[in-house]
Amino acid sequence: MSEKIDALLKLIEVPETNKSTPIKDSEARFIYEFVKEKKIGKTVETGCGYGKSAVSIMAATGKPHIVIDPFQRNYNYGGTENIKKAGFGALLNFQEDFSHTVLPLLASKNEKFDFVFIDGNHRFDGIFVDFYYTDFLLEQGGYFMFHDTWMHSTQLVISFIKKNRPDYKVIDSPLRNIFIFQKAGTDTRDGMYHRGFYTMKSWLTHHLIIWLTEGDETFLKKSVNKLKGLYTGIKPK
Ligand SMILES: C[S@@+](CC[C@H](N)C(=O)[O-])C[C@H]1O[C@@H](n2cnc3c(N)ncnc32)[C@H](O)[C@@H]1O
Repeated sequence: MSEKIDALLKLIEVPETNKSTPIKDSEARFIYEFVKEKKIGKTVETGCGYGKSAVSIMAATGKPHIVIDPFQRNYNYGGTENIKKAGFGALLNFQEDFSHTVLPLLASKNEKFDFVFIDGNHRFDGIFVDFYYTDFLLEQGGYFMFHDTWMHSTQLVISFIKKNRPDYKVIDSPLRNIFIFQKAGTDTRDGMYHRGFYTMKSWLTHHLIIWLTEGDETFLKKSVNKLKGLYTGIKPK
């Protein structure tokens, strides 16, 4: 089943200087298989980058897909070009604007989606706002995925949803850097409802990964990275 996506991934070009921007091939394959297996139809994503997630989603649905990104010019439109090269130009609905502008517009038109991929602004407030509008856009039973769950910001939004939104169900993800929720009920919180969601663990993992991926390769770093690879199978971006 993965041959189709593997062939498409080979067409995606990413400049040497930007190798850390795209999702990994294993993540692209997972998204493709997930979207296909769940028979997902209407899709939207925030953060185009070099178009890898968009290609994975469109390859799985064969249907129109909205991609929101205000900064494609900073990537020389490499993402939209890769999407066209993969043969999905006609299905692409590219919105060259901020997700905080486009998502509310979609919500105001009462548009509904089965799947949202969130990989745009990676600051806490940016991710939170993407989630906030995703909530209005998702069909009952629909899914959304966060990428870059190693980041403290993403972990805090995940923790907020787990603690404050019992109407969202956590779906097991085999990949450490992708987190999945399914809309599985209605929001019945009263106006005073609030559960604290700050986690120290996410702060620690964030800073540990930054320490492991940046700066000098010391003996200690090499050893910790080796252990991490052995025990978790995750490699930092
Ligand atoms: C890590 S890249 C996305 C990678 C992409 N999903 C892939 O599969 O390769 C993050 C992208 O988010 C975009 N971005 C940053 N702020 C944004 C915002 N407010 N709304 C939408 N996209 C945003 C950036 O321009 C960048 O292209």
